[in-house]
Amino acid sequence: MIWDTHAHLDDSQFNADREKVIERARQGEVTTIINIGASESTSRQSVNLAQKYPFIYATVGVHPHYAKDCSDETWARLSRLAQNPKVVAWGEIGLDYYRDLSPRDVQRKVFIRQLELADEMGLPVVIHDRDAHGDILEIIKKHTPQAGGVFHSYSGSWEMAKELLSLGFYLSFSGPLTFKNNRKTAEVAANVPEDRFVVETDCPYLTPEPYRGKRNEPLYAWQVLNKIAELKGLSPEETASLAVENSKRLFGITK
Ligand code: NI
Repeated sequence: MIWDTHAHLDDSQFNADREKVIERARQGEVTTIINIGASESTSRQSVNLAQKYPFIYATVGVHPHYAKDCSDETWARLSRLAQNPKVVAWGEIGLDYYRDLSPRDVQRKVFIRQLELADEMGLPVVIHDRDAHGDILEIIKKHTPQAGGVFHSYSGSWEMAKELLSLGFYLSFSGPLTFKNNRKTAEVAANVPEDRFVVETDCPYLTPEPYRGKRNEPLYAWQVLNKIAELKGLSPEETASLAVENSKRLFGITK
């Protein structure tokens, strides 16, 4: 069995068959799902899903795309929401210099604010980093939350990975690891210590091979797991049990 540590099951792409998608995951031995908040409303939806299913957990936080919409009231409401016992991390937060949907200075300010909030609440963070490696590293070095965190769908170099690992962070791998030309991420997955990686889908986005082009779903976390096993020269069973242990430690889930 494995976990999908980063899903967006609240996405409208699942409105027609959400129950079936969740059932397929469970039948296929994806036993636990962490549903990720990306705005105030999707954070609320994540908590609602986690209330409905015992094997779904939630995170709350604001993605850099929506940084420009945040106010002090946002932080007050999200902090209250984060007190729900099914909330296991703050995120996804970070910087996105690829789409630049919020001004970069606002993205940085909102990222730092949320790193502080996570730390106040004793929660690990889920970090989104798109084409912003330098600024992310500079900020995270100064504001590392005590409970640590994970770089989701890690896309940086092995050089940067070593710095993040030395700060105590985990690295999460997703669909792009399975793409043929992705040598950079393959190098990271091959070298990441056995106690510092987790598996995710980021569904409905980032669909792995051989399903590329279709909607992604938690069941396909196996494609990512199998690729990590292959790159590390471990059996899928061994890799799965490492990934689950790492996920539990990262999110402080003891069951
Ligand atoms: Ni995501």
